[in-house]
Amino acid sequence: MTTGAEWMDGVARRSCTGPVDVSGDASASSAVGGAAGRWTVDGVVVPGERRGRRLGWPTANVDVDGGALPPDGIYAGLVTVTGLDGGPFPAAVSVGSNPTFAGTSRTVEAHLLDFDGDLYGRRVVVTALHRLRDTAAFGSVVELLAAVEDDVARTRALVR
Ligand SMILES: Cc1cc2nc3c(=O)[nH]c(=O)nc-3n(C[C@H](O)[C@H](O)[C@H](O)COP(=O)(O)O)c2cc1C
Repeated sequence: MTTGAEWMDGVARRSCTGPVDVSGDASASSAVGGAAGRWTVDGVVVPGERRGRRLGWPTANVDVDGGALPPDGIYAGLVTVTGLDGGPFPAAVSVGSNPTFAGTSRTVEAHLLDFDGDLYGRRVVVTALHRLRDTAAFGSVVELLAAVEDDVARTRALVR
């Protein structure tokens, strides 16, 4: 059976080709647990708050199959889009409740680098390869924006 989140002792079963990347917080705080650096989830892209697009970093909000989400954090990884050529696309991925905006529900959102298109309704596979940092509650949107820019730059350097 395939569920959205697949971990086995911290290694994403579907991509257990290398050593587990445990740079960053490896505490098993989430229900699904495991080492935090590497995981794979899949699901359909659904509408979010649409705030990201206004702020300059549109994100694909993934309705994760099975509902089990990876640990909160910001990750660099790859997104494969079903039925779309040109992928997989490097992506900066946020898992969390968007505490800067006092959000309450946890989501997986991916900003695909150098991608301009409509992903709503598409099935995607999100693979995190590196954990970049913890999710933060920033005091201003300007600070969040600076952090996202840094995340995107690091993703560009780490994932090709
Ligand atoms: C690379 C990246 C890093 C992010 N880091 C944070 C963060 O540290 N804190 C936070 O509250 N939200 C973070 N977010 C989530 C943004 O708050 C979210 O993308 C924005 O509110 C847009 O949400 P929407 O797509 O539902 O409109 C991050 C998003 C991305 C793509």
